[in-house]
This record gives sequence, C-alpha cells and structure tokens, in this order.
Amino acid sequence: MQTILVTGGAGYIGSHACVELLQAGFKVVVVDNFSNSKPESLVRVQKITGLSPTLYQADIRDKQALSDIFAKENIDAVIHFAGLKSVGESCSDPLNYYNNNVYGTLVLLEAMNEANVKNLIFSSSATVYKESTINQYAEDFPLGSINPYGRSKLMIEEILRDVSTADKINQSATPWKIVLLRYFNPIGAHESGMIGEDPNGIPNNLLPYVSQVAIGKLAQLSVWGDDYPTRDGTGVRDYIHVVDLVKGHIKAIDALDAEQFKNGACKAYNLGTGTGYSVLEIINTFEKVTARPVNYKIAPRRAGDLAECFANPALALAELHWQTEKNLDDMLADAWRWQSNNPNGYE
Ligand code: NAD
Ligand code: UD1
Repeated sequence: MQTILVTGGAGYIGSHACVELLQAGFKVVVVDNFSNSKPESLVRVQKITGLSPTLYQADIRDKQALSDIFAKENIDAVIHFAGLKSVGESCSDPLNYYNNNVYGTLVLLEAMNEANVKNLIFSSSATVYKESTINQYAEDFPLGSINPYGRSKLMIEEILRDVSTADKINQSATPWKIVLLRYFNPIGAHESGMIGEDPNGIPNNLLPYVSQVAIGKLAQLSVWGDDYPTRDGTGVRDYIHVVDLVKGHIKAIDALDAEQFKNGACKAYNLGTGTGYSVLEIINTFEKVTARPVNYKIAPRRAGDLAECFANPALALAELHWQTEKNLDDMLADAWRWQSNNPNGYE
C-alpha cells in the first residue's frame, strides 16, 4: 500500500483528494495548519469513506515538524496543496503569499530531499499562462502572471524545473519525479454533500457567490461585464468538477511509474474539461438544475479578468490517461447539495 502525504489536505481540494485516495486504497497522511480550513472537513472525510487520514496539525514552513513526519511515516509521494490562493489578498499582502507559497514549498522540498522522498504532485494553476488572444491554453504556451498569487505559482514551477534539471547534472541515483497540475476553475463538491468549498467571508469566485445568493445569504450577484468579445458578452471559463480534478492527481501518481518519468522529469499538465461556459450560462444552468432563482445585475468589468480561457486537456489524456467524467449539471447540482445541506459551511 502506498502512503501519500497530502499538504493542505483539510482544504477544499485537499479534502476531496483524501476521499478519492482513501477509496483507491492509499494510506493518507495530512499536514495542515488550518489557516483556511477546519478539522471538521477531515471528520467528514472519515464519515464518507469509513477510513481516517493520519493528521498532523503543522505549518509546512516548520522544517522540524516536516522532518519528524517523514521520519515517522513511510511516505512514497507528496501531493502539495498547501498555500494561499486569493488573488486580491495577494496584491495587498504579497510578502505573506511569497512566504507561504514559495518559502513553504522550499522548506517542503528540503525535507523531502533529506528524506529521499522525491515524488511530487504540485497544485499549479491556469493563471501561470501569459494572457493570449488564443483562448484555449496548451502546456507549451508562454508563461507569465499579472498578480503576486500567480507569480508565486510560476516561481514554484520554475524552482521545480531547476530541481529536476539539477538531477541530470548530478546524475542522482533517485531522481525527482514532479508533476505540475495546472487547474482551470474547480467547482462542485462530493456527491454526498458532506464536503465542499467553505470560503471565509464574502466569496470572490463565481460559484460560491452564486450558491450564497441562491440560499439567501447574499442579496445579489454582480456579473462583472457583459461587453467581452464572447458569445453573450460575459466571461468564459473552463469549470471542472473537483472530484474529476482530484482523480487527475491519482492518475498523476500512477504515471510516476510510466516511461516518461522513468529517469526523473518535471512535467506540466492542464486539468480542465476543454469546454468553456459563460457567466450567464452558469447562472441559467444553476437555476435549471436547482430550481432556485439567482438574483443578478450586470456590473462593470473586474480588473485583471480575461474574456475567455479554457484548457487543451489533450496531454493529460495522452500521458496521464485522465479525462473528466462529470458535466456542468453535475457540478452545479453537487455545489448546491453541499451549500443547502451546510448553509454555514463546516460551522
Ligand atoms: P484551500 O485554502 O481550501 O486549501 C489550502 C489548505 O492549505 C487549507 O486547508 C489551509 O489551511 C492549508 N494551508 C495553507 N497554508 C499552509 C501552511 N503554510 N502550512 C500548512 N497548511 C497550510 O484551497 P484549495 O482551493 O483547496 O486549493 C488547494 C491548492 O490548489 C492551492 O495551492 C491553490 O493555490 C491551488 N489552486 C486552487 C484553485 C481553486 O480555484 N480552488 C485553482 C488553481 C490552483
Ligand atoms: C480567479 C482568479 C484566478 C484563480 C481562479 C480560481 C482573479 C483575477 N483570478 O479566476 O487566479 O486561479 O479564480 O480560483 O481573481 N464573476 C462574476 N461575478 C462574481 C465572480 C466572478 O461575474 O461575483 C465572473 C468573472 O468575471 C469570471 C468568472 O465569473 O468571468 C469566473 O470568476 P472566478 O470564479 O473569480 O474565476 P477566475 O476569474 O477564472
């Protein structure tokens, strides 16, 4: 049985990863400092699966804590979700973002290196792609980010590529095997309705905002711009069901044994559906699937937003043998089940 260390395992994506990993027969060890999550998410993971991850409440910047975990647990690979993820907050507090995301990853890499655990799946983001007039992004597109959050992800990608290159120079006996997974827009929740996204305060992202308007916690959704060069003027994104997304991580773990990683490598893969939906399409489909009205108004564009962005997921299909299975109706029905069963999140 393989043991996977999941950093940030109590968070939105991490908790869903714990469920799929446990159900797939992995032993799961979680390290989380609960800066953006609650222990209750892992209680729910146990209720869904009948199995418990081993939990260490610690900060990934605490080198001694990480070394102790690697000494105690027989870790085969690390899935690294821990980090901060709000674009707006990263602009007002960049030092905190670089400290948590970049420095935190450096400490994790040092602890992994010392423990000779060199299999890593990293949560990257579509935000690492440079803005382009071509809306469908492939892995070999130019990179570049316009905010500190995105730059922290890009810096980590660059560090990981350097670490992998150094293996070739040093002819390392155990080379690093690193998978960079570039997520598009994860939404939805586990179909049980027991775990889901539990944002602090007023959400910035579309789906939690829509759900909170539908349940009456927020009065009205602002649609940020209806004058984009898209089919209905509103922004188009590649929304992906969180369960499909985490299954991509399990496929990535499997791929570490495949030919392309045999002698070590650092490779990026898009995790998206390949299909974009507009804000109005999301609202209309949400209303259809949930039979709930979503009160909205058209508002000016949000600074920093792209018109349209969706994945070319062909490489993940070819090399990870992964593709999405759930459609937009599933994503929105599951998001709503989580929201309506847990109007106040995990509280
Ligand atoms: P989340 O905030 O729900 O989960 C992150 C978890 O990491 C939380 O449980 C938090 O408490 C923990 N954490 C943060 N800093 C830590 C530290 N220094 N030490 C230990 N634990 C720490 O976020 P999420 O949506 O689950 O995202 C997971 C990862 O995926 C993040 O790296 C994020 O940047 C990336 N990502 C998310 C999205 C998205 O839309 N949700 C999109 C692209 C990439
Ligand atoms: C945002 C982040 C991105 C991050 C991603 C997933 C910005 C500029 N980008 O991307 O770095 O990787 O989340 O976490 O914040 N919308 C509304 N009204 C709202 C909220 C959103 O109309 O109240 C629209 C947006 O204009 C956009 C779409 O909905 O067209 C999706 O927005 P959002 O969920 O914030 O995701 P992204 O903008 O793709």
